[in-house]
Amino acid sequence: MSDRTAVLAPLTDWSAAVRARARIGHTLEVHETIGSTNDRARELLVEVGGDGGVVLAEVQTVGRGRRGRTWLSPSGLNLTLSVALRPALAAADAWQLGLATALATLEACRTAAPGSVLGLKWPNDVVAGDERKVAGLLLETVMSGERLTGAVLGIGINVNWRSSEMPAEIARQAASLSSLAGADVDRVALLDRLLDSLDDELVAVESGRSPLARYRAACVTLGREVTVDTATGPVHGTAVGIDASGSLVLETPGGRVALSAGEVASVRGGSPA
Ligand code: BTN
Repeated sequence: MSDRTAVLAPLTDWSAAVRARARIGHTLEVHETIGSTNDRARELLVEVGGDGGVVLAEVQTVGRGRRGRTWLSPSGLNLTLSVALRPALAAADAWQLGLATALATLEACRTAAPGSVLGLKWPNDVVAGDERKVAGLLLETVMSGERLTGAVLGIGINVNWRSSEMPAEIARQAASLSSLAGADVDRVALLDRLLDSLDDELVAVESGRSPLARYRAACVTLGREVTVDTATGPVHGTAVGIDASGSLVLETPGGRVALSAGEVASVRGGSPA
């Protein structure tokens, strides 16, 4: 082995996660560096055979989070990917994709860190028992009138990124699967499981089986006293339900309020499932 070979970290071989005959992951593009995997997946939407294509990157220079945040993830440690989809769904049912993707991500994370306490924080974060974030989703949709013509499922999972190596602000709010599992997690096996799980969830949603009941069971926000940041300001109340269109229902001093979008900023009471 030359000196140079000895100092280079081995590149990950992702080929075991390519699933030639499956809907999701029949193609897997791997980029060492890209702007945002969501942007590349959006391009795939209009390419022949683009449906179900997966774009993965070790580094994103402009990785996006929800509500205008940036998504930071160092090379070689985490999972950062987007799936291009042309779902057979009406625009009115697009919200179900968010729930289905969250459930698939939760299932893959639970498999990677068996025995750990993991749940979903509304709308679609995977969180540890202490509420630190393990995974985040950014769903972008393309509509044409009443039709959902495309969707990009952007998924970022903290896998082997140690708290001691995270910037302090992220370390306060984030946890990695490896810290929950007590050992490094195989990223290729995690990706394989995630794509399998996404495939199953997509089949269910497209055949009219709603993910709502399973989402409610996994949602750790329910039963808590929360403040939700919305486009029109913070709303404070007790989270009492998820309604039939995926909105979070809060019992507030002024009555019940259903929120279709927002960020749960602070939480009191209860304990994650
Ligand atoms: C959030 O919790 O705010 C959502 C984070 C989503 C991050 C993923 S990483 C892969 C994909 N590409 C992006 O630019 N963002 C998503």
